[in-house]
Amino acid sequence: MSTDTGVHAPPRARLPVSTLRNDRWWVPQVLTIAGLSIFVIYATVRVFLQQNYWVEEYHYLTPFYSPCISTGCVDGAAHFGRFIPDHALIPYAALSLPFLLLFRLTCYYYRKAYYRSFWLAPPACAVPEPHARYTGETRFPLILQNIHRYFFYLAFAITIINTYDMLLAFQTADGGFGLGLGNVILVVNVVMLWLYTLSCHSCRHVMGGRLKNFSKHPVRYRMWTRISALNTRHMEFAWISLGTLMLVDLYVMLVASGTITDLRFIG
Ligand code: FES
Repeated sequence: MSTDTGVHAPPRARLPVSTLRNDRWWVPQVLTIAGLSIFVIYATVRVFLQQNYWVEEYHYLTPFYSPCISTGCVDGAAHFGRFIPDHALIPYAALSLPFLLLFRLTCYYYRKAYYRSFWLAPPACAVPEPHARYTGETRFPLILQNIHRYFFYLAFAITIINTYDMLLAFQTADGGFGLGLGNVILVVNVVMLWLYTLSCHSCRHVMGGRLKNFSKHPVRYRMWTRISALNTRHMEFAWISLGTLMLVDLYVMLVASGTITDLRFIG
């Protein structure tokens, strides 16, 4: 390692230990690695299973397969047509999943989380990083993180589709109104997806960015203040929505496979 950059640069104090912190600063990083790894492994397995994603009787569709656009999708689940080939390596929701992945991957919060936990750059405040050089996000490939704002628009559109799926699930196969535990879980998931999407820093910028004078834009100002309030809890929404995505998918898979029956309140 170079001895004249980063924490080893001449103006920095020479310390006999790597950090003076004596708290358990590494706990959040370990939890982050565990949480993100569980989600990535679960989601990857589920996306390529290509079964048990749709409950015909109650119109439950897991968000991991929405919109279902593969020729392999069952009739009822394909709300927007089937136009991509059915192949074991092509997810049934190939139009939405890559953008949702990139939306989360370039999210300001997740960037901080995985830079610290996986890349140790730096692992925590006042804990030196193991890398000799630091160029931040000023060069390729990390400069591409700046396109997060465009993924926001796509994620916004996909959340509308998730909302549509959630509403369709209130109609049972015989055309009547139905309400089960699956509906409750789908609603909770969609609410969390909206909270995560709307609390995005790019959304906040869309609402109130580039304005010279808030008093001339009272509606945008009001929306900006609301989004700003949500934005302070973006990290929470990021984690909770990951959890609800797994929960709703697991529930749909268990009902679709006949492992459990949906707890019905109406219909
Ligand atoms: Fe996290 Fe945009 S900053 S989704």
